[in-house]
This record gives sequence, C-alpha cells and structure tokens, in this order.
Amino acid sequence: MKIIHVDDYYEMSKRAAEIVSNQLKLKPDSVLGLATGDTPLGMYRELIKKYKGAHIDFSKVKTFNLDEYCNLNKNNKQSYSYYMRENFFKHINISRRNINIPNGMAKDITKETFEYERKIINSGGIDLQILGIGTNGHIGFNEPQVKFEALTHMVNLDKQTIRDNARFFNSIEEVPTKAISMGIKTIMHARKIILLASGIKKAHVVYKSIYGEIKPTMPASVLQLHQNVICIVDKEASSKLYLNKSIRFLGGN
Ligand code: GLP
Repeated sequence: MKIIHVDDYYEMSKRAAEIVSNQLKLKPDSVLGLATGDTPLGMYRELIKKYKGAHIDFSKVKTFNLDEYCNLNKNNKQSYSYYMRENFFKHINISRRNINIPNGMAKDITKETFEYERKIINSGGIDLQILGIGTNGHIGFNEPQVKFEALTHMVNLDKQTIRDNARFFNSIEEVPTKAISMGIKTIMHARKIILLASGIKKAHVVYKSIYGEIKPTMPASVLQLHQNVICIVDKEASSKLYLNKSIRFLGGN
C-alpha cells in the first residue's frame, strides 16, 4: 500500500483528481469505480475543473458506483443517483449509457445484484476504484462482519452507518436500512484502488485499516491484501498512524 500524506481535504482532493486524470490520459476508455459521501466531493470538483479546462475527456469512460440505498427513488435528493448527477455527471461529457449505479428500487434485488456484477465483468473490470471509508471501517456499504468473498449484494446497514448518514435526512427514521453494495470481492478485483480519508473522525479506522489485523470486523483492512492501493490521507486522518515515529518508515512517503 502506498500512503500519500497531504495537509488537508483540498490537497487530498487535488491529488486524487490528478491520479484519475492520469488514468484517463493513459486509457481514455477506463472503467472507473465511484464513491459517494462527503469525502470524494472535492475530487469531483477538481475533475470538473480539469474537464472544463479541456484537460480530460470522459466521452469513452464507463462508471460503476459502489452502492445505492434500497427503496429511494433516484430523484430523491438523498439517493446516490441524485448525488452523482448533481455533483459530477451533469458537469462532464460522460455518456448516460456508460453510467451504472445499482437500482435500489428493483423489484428483484437479487437479480439486480447479479446483473450489476455481470455488467462490471462485461465492461472488462474496474481499472480504478475510488473509496471513502465509514467511521466503522466500511467500504462501499460493506459493514463490519461482511464476508470478504462477497460480490455485489444487498446489505442491512449498520446502526453506526445509519447514525452517520442521518445528517443527510430530516430524521434518523428516514434513513434507509438496506442498500445494494459492491462486495469486498468486487472491490478487490479492481486493478487499482484509491482510498481517501480526511478528518479526525476517520483517524482510528485509518490506523486499524492500514496497520491492524485483517478481519471482517474492519472491512477496509482487506485492502492490505491488494497489490495496488494508494491511500491519500490528510493530517487529521493520519494522526494515529505515526504515534510511534518509527512506524512511519513502513508506510512510504
Ligand atoms: C457512506 C458510503 C461510503 C462512504 C462512507 C463515508 O455510507 N456508502 O461509500 O465512503 O459512507 O462517507 P463520508 O465520506 O461522508 O465520510
């Protein structure tokens, strides 16, 4: 795992956007795995700037989002479809047919999860996957106790996740309790992964994911087994990593 240390959220976002942009220069028809939440918002803003400055082109890019809530219409402002459209897709030249987000309103959720996985495989697999991390160590919506061998599936959201995400809804009762998420195995099949973390509330899970035991109760710890992960952390998120300075040496730059 390569660890890139940056000062703050802004720098984290710029570094991530640079990596995505370089990926598209090398392979204009890349398949990107995308994330939602507060963490990647700055990266999307930077990518939009690069697109408007004619530095990158999304016309051949395909995207697969990590997850989506069940039972939220895609026009609901809290749905991840809405988030992606408003914060990224409507500002760039991506073709609508190249955008993939799990359909949490599907009548047959199991069928939807199989089809989503099949679409990823048929696209040639994910070249670059963007990840944030939940305060319980989840990636996508792979909550603690997830099976590492899981492909795209329906999840019951963890109480901690429901509490964390309640800030986007009028009340905690409105937060959906189920979602569709790429599985850990789906994520681990990506050729390259960028894990983004910013802020003090992520410090403990960043530490456990990078240096802790690899176990399903800390889903992001599985990333230690991937050959090509870049973790971009700001000062606050990395503040627990180097309490013992000698450990810093193991982490890279
Ligand atoms: C959500 C998403 C994750 C995201 C995480 C962290 O529940 N499903 O993909 O990484 O929470 O969110 P934030 O970036 O807002 O801290």
